[in-house]
Order: sequence, then structure tokens, then C-alpha cells
Amino acid sequence: MKIQRIHFEKIESTSTWAKENAQIFDLDGLTCVTAFEQTAGRGRFNRRWISGRGQNITATLFFTLPKESPIVANLAQLLSLSCVAVLEKLGFTPQIKWPNDLLLNGKKVSGILCETIEINNRLGIALGIGMNVNLPEEILSKIDQPATSLLQVSGKTWPIEELIDLILKQFAADLEKLKTAGFASFKNNYEKHLAYLGQPITCSDAAGRKSIQGVCHSVAPDGRLNLLLPDGSMRTLSTGDLHLPGAC
Ligand code: BTN
Repeated sequence: MKIQRIHFEKIESTSTWAKENAQIFDLDGLTCVTAFEQTAGRGRFNRRWISGRGQNITATLFFTLPKESPIVANLAQLLSLSCVAVLEKLGFTPQIKWPNDLLLNGKKVSGILCETIEINNRLGIALGIGMNVNLPEEILSKIDQPATSLLQVSGKTWPIEELIDLILKQFAADLEKLKTAGFASFKNNYEKHLAYLGQPITCSDAAGRKSIQGVCHSVAPDGRLNLLLPDGSMRTLSTGDLHLPGAC
């Protein structure tokens, strides 16, 4: 898959820009839009995403799939797994908070936002990733949930451009496998890295209101999360925001 890069010094959001300008991309390849600074970074559930200036990975991976492609639901999970592979090679021990947050030492280091548009009778995928790379303690402490960075965990700074290249190569290879073998072929590796496995958790909906409690039991072959409920039944979740009991 041909990979192209577009970089901005300052932009509202790489994902917003990618979706609005996708017509100029090579729609048979993968276009990666990055920014030194985002002024209106967006996260899941309409949250803000803070990424500092030049200290983090702020990127959107744009590519297309056939309209009815069944793998759309797994793309963000796949990217989280690609990042796990890269971070492990660098000596980190990442875990995945279902469905696609990356944790280091139990704190969030990366988040992924998957959005779609229709383009040329195909599905355009904008996979936005934010990863805290060289974010120092002063900024991490302003984030409204426990967050960390590669700098904080390792005590050293990391070359952002090289990390992006490693992630892009890994993701392009993983995407080919997903297209041919489906998410089931990643399930074991994904589950191996799953945070909270066997632990009681709460899963809340997009509005952060309705929540359901149970034990984080396993991952289904299609990537959904199996939650063991207090009455012994199993609920399979397609979306949601996981927390440990007592955390918000
Ligand atoms: C999350 O809520 O965890 C997902 C965060 C995704 C942030 C990235 S940064 C690059 C891209 N542009 C955005 O506005 N959001 C995504």
C-alpha cells in the first residue's frame, strides 16, 4: 500500500482536515496527515484532545474500503495493536483498554478516534491517533484523566517522526492481514494485551451516564467485549467507555 504524508505546523484537527480534503488524496493508498499543533483536537465521545506543541503524535491515517466492508468496526482496535507491536519493540509494556486506548502503567498514553465518510462510492476511513510521546508532567497533570507519556515512563525523549513511520509500516501490514484473515486472526494477541482481564469493571455509554458492571471476561472473535454479569450471564459489548470501579 502506497503511503503518503502531509504535515501541518498548526491545524484545527488532522481528522477534520483529512475528512474535508480527502478528494485530493490517493484513494487507493494510505495518506497520513500530521500536525505539530492542533487547536481543536477531538477525542471519542466528543471530548477535547490536548496534545501540546510538537511533543506528541497527532496523526490521521486516511484510506478507503469497499462500502459494506465488515472490518470497519475493528480498524481502531487494529491500530491500537499495531502501536502495541511498535512500543514493545522499543521496550515498553503497553496494554489495551478495550476497545482501543493504550495504557502504560495503567495510565492512558494513546487514544484513537475512527470516523467514516462516503467518498467516490467507497467508505473513507479517518483513523485519528494521539499518542503522548514527549509530554512533560506539567501538561500531563492538566489532563482530566490519569495520563502518561513515553517520556514519563522511560525518562527519555523519543523521535516523533520515526515513531510515526514505524506505526504506519506496522499498520499497513496489519491492515492487509485484517482484509484477508479478519479480526479473528488478531484476537489472541489482542486479548493477551487486554487491560483489566478478569477484573470487575464498569462500562458507560457515550454520554457517560448509563453504565453496566461486570467482570472483563474475554474478547469475542469479532472484537467485541464479553462482560460477565453478576447474575452469571454474559453480555457482549460493541462500544462503551471502561472504568475500574470507583474511577470516573
Ligand atoms: C480518544 O478520545 O481517546 C481519541 C483521541 C484521538 C485524538 C487524535 S489526535 C489526531 C486526530 N485529530 C483529532 O482531532 N483527533 C485525533
